[in-house]
Amino acid sequence: MKLLVTGGAGFIGGNFVHYMLKQHPGLRLVNLDLLTYAGNLETVGSAESNADYSFVRGDIADRDFIFSLFEREQFDWVVNFAAETHVDRSIVDPGAFVRTNVVGTQVLLDAAKTFGVKRFHQVSTDEVYGDLPLDRPDLFFTEKTPLSASSPYSASKAGADLLVLSYFRTFRLPVTISRCSNNYGPYQFPEKLIPLILSRALADQEVPVYGTGENVRDWLHVEDHCRGIDRILHNGREGEVYNIGGHNEKTNLDVVKTVLAALGKPETLIRFVSDRPGHDRRYAIDPAKIGRELDWRPEICFEDGIARTVQWYLENRGWWEKILSGEYRNYFDTMYGEKLG
Ligand code: NAD
Ligand code: TYD
Repeated sequence: MKLLVTGGAGFIGGNFVHYMLKQHPGLRLVNLDLLTYAGNLETVGSAESNADYSFVRGDIADRDFIFSLFEREQFDWVVNFAAETHVDRSIVDPGAFVRTNVVGTQVLLDAAKTFGVKRFHQVSTDEVYGDLPLDRPDLFFTEKTPLSASSPYSASKAGADLLVLSYFRTFRLPVTISRCSNNYGPYQFPEKLIPLILSRALADQEVPVYGTGENVRDWLHVEDHCRGIDRILHNGREGEVYNIGGHNEKTNLDVVKTVLAALGKPETLIRFVSDRPGHDRRYAIDPAKIGRELDWRPEICFEDGIARTVQWYLENRGWWEKILSGEYRNYFDTMYGEKLG
């Protein structure tokens, strides 16, 4: 079997590369990534010694490149992680999100159709469902919840999902989609909440909390997400969407306080800053379908997962300090300069 992983130099894709090589010896895996600001070859450095692994640099929206790659490699499976992923960046530059997330996915779908890929799996997000009110803890996102994206990021992911499902209905391309809640774990780029707090608190810098910090996210360790995708790839039904989440809702303020406590840093580092425009209030996944059909359940509880993640960031300072010293510094200054003073 030959698997194409796109976006495998990013956070979840990189964890998935390691997970699949470990779980499925003999599986040939090609990692295709453009190496944008979010892609980092050091994330998959240890895979390089595996003869079944190879890396290709390229753009999923580059049709000629993608078609020649598919023709040459004859992939059995494709798992598409490649995307622009940060909501705040999508507010500044929506076009980049449409190009990669919508056009890129469509180019991959065309190539998969042309070269007879046996399974195209789209890695999507719970953000395509929009948000839930804070005062209705009885409500959850199911696979039947209507798409109602709030940000250019989630709108571009929703557009991609609709294209994927249309290729199933119109062309019978064997597709599946997973929609997962917020991930945390090793190799997450330090613009996202948890690694941002970690990296800043370790330097005794203020940690920015948007609005009042009451927004709720449903956190899942990245390894549980990878296992869910693996299950869907092997046993999921074609044309189906599977939500992935572990009923682990936390307010942002709770998450920030948990991380600060794990680092032994004071809560006085918390700084409430102006809110994100259109900020989604609450995400909460109902994972009943993947539990029932594929026997998937989260295995890493938040307390253990956060402790492991904190440990990883402490032991791998080189990985994220290098990122912070580069282009990301300019990003941080532009995004937060006025907010943090
Ligand atoms: P990430 O930003 O860490 O990584 C994205 C990767 O895609 C990077 O390596 C980047 O170089 C690559 N990439 C970007 N544009 C590309 C292009 N045009 N061609 C090829 N490669 C390109 O993202 P992540 O957090 O690992 O998310 C991966 C996927 O999972 C995304 O599709 C995202 O929507 C989805 N997802 C993320 C979360 C989360 O909490 N992070 C939750 C649910 C779903
Ligand atoms: P983020 O990690 O960007 O993921 P998403 O927006 O996809 O859920 O943000 C998680 C939550 O944390 C979200 O409600 C926004 C909030 N947040 C802050 O309060 N401060 C920050 O500096 C960042 C990056 C996010």
